[in-house]
Amino acid sequence: MRLTMKHLFWLKVAIHSIAILPVAYLILLILSDQAGGDPVQFIIHYTGIGALNTLIVLLAISPIARKFKQGVLIQTRRVVGLYVFAYASLHIFAFISLDLLFEWSLLIEEVLKRPYILVGALAYIILFALSITSFKVIRRKMGKRWQQLHNLVYLVAILVPIHFYWSVKSEVIEPSIYILVTSSLLLIRLPLYKFYQTILANKFKSKSTS
Ligand code: HEM
Repeated sequence: MRLTMKHLFWLKVAIHSIAILPVAYLILLILSDQAGGDPVQFIIHYTGIGALNTLIVLLAISPIARKFKQGVLIQTRRVVGLYVFAYASLHIFAFISLDLLFEWSLLIEEVLKRPYILVGALAYIILFALSITSFKVIRRKMGKRWQQLHNLVYLVAILVPIHFYWSVKSEVIEPSIYILVTSSLLLIRLPLYKFYQTILANKFKSKSTS
């Protein structure tokens, strides 16, 4: 089935529901005292992973749309991208409010103690720039520069897994899996990979016709 513009509305309704549900679940966990032994760490981790998972969904949209010839899916990238920013904002707000208790002087101390925060901050600045320029009017005004700026999402996809890997003390399996997944999603975009795919497809076609 080929998705059409008529399906786009329901697709977006589904995206909003899927993206908001985990936040409702988090609130439920906090209210019912089930947010682990250290609720502050729990919330920071939960929202950080939420942002990273949403980023992976965002990176997967174009390859899926191309592979299954579902061009309409491309139109969902903006809303998914905004949810990456929303989750990242919750993550940072949780850190500044619940962990640092808005003690801004502590922030410098924290950055010196945990330099991976700088990597996260750089990713967040890029996400912020992408979000505020995601409106159609701004896109039109920016012309070619818009695409150049929005290609920085690939840099975010490199920075965030590094931020995650660097933040853990011993448990490296989960961040390593995330590095593998994001790297694969970036690698399949490289011209060399696409060239290799075309050769394989042509080989397969000539074999099946001979
Ligand atoms: C100013 C920006 C940021 C700050 C201050 C920050 C802060 C933190 C802190 C304090 C941790 C917890 C480390 C620990 O104690 O275990 C963390 C982990 C994490 N952050 Fe960030 N972060 C920032 C940006 C981001 C962004 C933009 C993303 C994603 C888009 C992100 C995703 C994550 C992930 C996935 C983790 C690992 C969660 C886990 O341990 O399960 N962070 N960050």
